[in-house]
Amino acid sequence: MAKKRIFSGIQPSGNLHIGNYLGAIKNWVTLQDEYESIFCVVDLHAITVPQNPEELSRKTIEIAKICLAAGIDPEKSAIFIQSHVPEHAELTWILNTIAKISELERMTQFKDKAGKNWEGVGVGLFDYPALMAADILLYDTQVVPVGEDQVQHIELTRTLAKRFNSKFGETFVIPEPYVRKEGMRIMGLDDPGKKMSKSASSEYNYISLTDDENAVNRKIKKAVTDSGSEIIYSDSKPALKNLINIYSLFANKSVKEIEKIYVNKGYAKFKNDLAKVITGFLVPFQRKMADLSDKVVLGILKKGAEKVRPLAQKKLQEVKKKMGFVL
Ligand code: TYM
Repeated sequence: MAKKRIFSGIQPSGNLHIGNYLGAIKNWVTLQDEYESIFCVVDLHAITVPQNPEELSRKTIEIAKICLAAGIDPEKSAIFIQSHVPEHAELTWILNTIAKISELERMTQFKDKAGKNWEGVGVGLFDYPALMAADILLYDTQVVPVGEDQVQHIELTRTLAKRFNSKFGETFVIPEPYVRKEGMRIMGLDDPGKKMSKSASSEYNYISLTDDENAVNRKIKKAVTDSGSEIIYSDSKPALKNLINIYSLFANKSVKEIEKIYVNKGYAKFKNDLAKVITGFLVPFQRKMADLSDKVVLGILKKGAEKVRPLAQKKLQEVKKKMGFVL
């Protein structure tokens, strides 16, 4: 039986943090054995907010290194840069003509990023979900592994695909989001009410995947905690719940096991061990990253684009034919 296909993307902007790893990349690594996998560094999405050009190229390669060091295997999966396959931009234009302003206005991520005076923000930021839909639909993607914050965009993708199919005939596969319960929403270390975010104003919000041991220790020490001194996993202790989740995912230990280890032990010991568990992952991971040269990584990304581009070209031709473009 043919393997199902997954597609997912990640932006080369801001500081990639352990939330991106636990919510997305870690799952990609596991899923690549079971699915035909396509992963994309979405530079066209990154420019929906202003980017420094040098920084954008540096980050694009860095994100690819992060994925490869985390275990994405280019022999099993295709990994490429979004702008290397121009069909993404072309299908976005077409999807723009079937997406509704009212649908895009409802997107939580847009509302969060644009703020109250959104009439002054760029059209690209508003249109971001149409580009994401194009990414997914170009490859007949069946499953899209993401963190919880992207589910609304996948729902919109489904709506657009169904609308296109009913207007022009069966063309797009309707994709399903895949959100693992564990890690789906890693919260900010300084505010457990909001997700950990690359664009957070304080560095105490996140642990970056490039943070050294000192930074990890400092940030975990400063991470907010709840009242009381017991290490228990409960909705009434959101800060601790988040820290236990992080611990559990990095140490591959269940929440119950962790609670048991820390009976009568208190926060200091727990936080100390948590910092060790995180650096236990980060140190070898960063060593692997450092061993990857820019040249090798760019080669892998170019090969990835060559592999997937024929799929994108074929789908776009089908779309244009159905719509009446002269080919
Ligand atoms: P991006 O770059 O913001 O995030 C990459 C992935 O990390 C997940 N994530 C989190 N998971 C758990 N806890 C958090 N605090 C956290 N923060 C981020 C995100 O859910 C995402 O899976 N629009 C997408 C990129 C994209 C895409 C696509 C994804 C473009 N095209 C097509 C899937 C399919 C984004 O900005 O992700």
